[in-house]
Amino acid sequence: MRIFSGIQPTGRKHLGNFIGAIEPYVHHQEQGEAIYCVVDLHATTVPYDPATLRERVYDTAAILLAAGLDPDRCIFFRQGDVPEHTEMTWLLSSVTAFGDLNRMHQFKDKAGAQRDLVSSSLFTYPVLMAADVLVYRAHRVPVGDDQRQHIELMRDIAERFNARFGVGGSGSGDDAPLVVPEGVYREVGARIMDLQEPTRKMSTTGGTEQGTVLVLDEPKTIEKKFKRAVTDSGSEIRHDRDEKPGVSNLIEIYAAVKGVAFDAVEREFADARYGDFKGAVAEAVVERLAPVQERFAELRPDEAALEEILAAGAAKARALAAPTVALARELMGVGPVG
Ligand code: TYM
Repeated sequence: MRIFSGIQPTGRKHLGNFIGAIEPYVHHQEQGEAIYCVVDLHATTVPYDPATLRERVYDTAAILLAAGLDPDRCIFFRQGDVPEHTEMTWLLSSVTAFGDLNRMHQFKDKAGAQRDLVSSSLFTYPVLMAADVLVYRAHRVPVGDDQRQHIELMRDIAERFNARFGVGGSGSGDDAPLVVPEGVYREVGARIMDLQEPTRKMSTTGGTEQGTVLVLDEPKTIEKKFKRAVTDSGSEIRHDRDEKPGVSNLIEIYAAVKGVAFDAVEREFADARYGDFKGAVAEAVVERLAPVQERFAELRPDEAALEEILAAGAAKARALAAPTVALARELMGVGPVG
């Protein structure tokens, strides 16, 4: 069982990323052969500053390591260090429908937010994401709920490649050239919402500042953000996404961070007021993030050590990716017979 996932180096990783993805990465590294990467190339699809990008990669890498990724248990690297991802992207583009890319919600949202140039790489972003996973023939992809459409597309791309280039048109099965991967979504916490606008997902680009809790926020800031969190009419602490989106989000955060079920949270706070409940959620989050922040402060300053970890990971990743690219080239008739 091979697991792959990627995370953008925005550096301002939030509680949604932490609960929806980073915690699952740590969990999955115990379950099989796990491969994780910081996707610096994806970060170049929207306006950015090159020097800041490098810093953000270190920030993100240090957060993941601080959260518990262990380079001895998983392969952890920077996407741009493994050129097989970009070559695979081009090869897969030939079996990716323009119409499918044109239907991607994230492209529409992000393109709509650009003031000037909308890059073509923002449009083909999902093909690079498909290449990230398919080049390792990974089986499972732990992600948050917002990546569902991208995962569906990567499955279609794999199936189309297998049907078009697989020997005898073998579209699936173990002898197919590409593995059709499955998205893995956390049962509780795959979609953490903005604390100020709980019908929108928590996000540093599309959410509100006060409603977005950052992994590196000071405890006081975290407490303030939860204290100001929007709750709903009534006073009952009950999980109901439609009628009580604010309270439900807080229940999910508490349940995920404490590792308990919704109804246990409802029971625990049956007689509590909203204010007390918000205080308890803030405390649980502060407690959960404290050791991560502490470890981050130790790891982040040593950029040479971070580089060493990423470089060692990239060497291992390349060794796994190269044979898939070689096979894809051969099946597609690119270059001399292998
Ligand atoms: P990114 O960097 O935006 O987010 C990283 C992970 O965090 C999850 N996530 C959330 N989970 C729960 N609640 C939220 N509010 C929330 N916001 C974000 C995301 O679903 C993601 O799992 N395109 C990807 C990066 C990527 C990738 C890949 C992922 C590139 N190549 C290959 C998997 C496989 C992205 O932008 O994630």
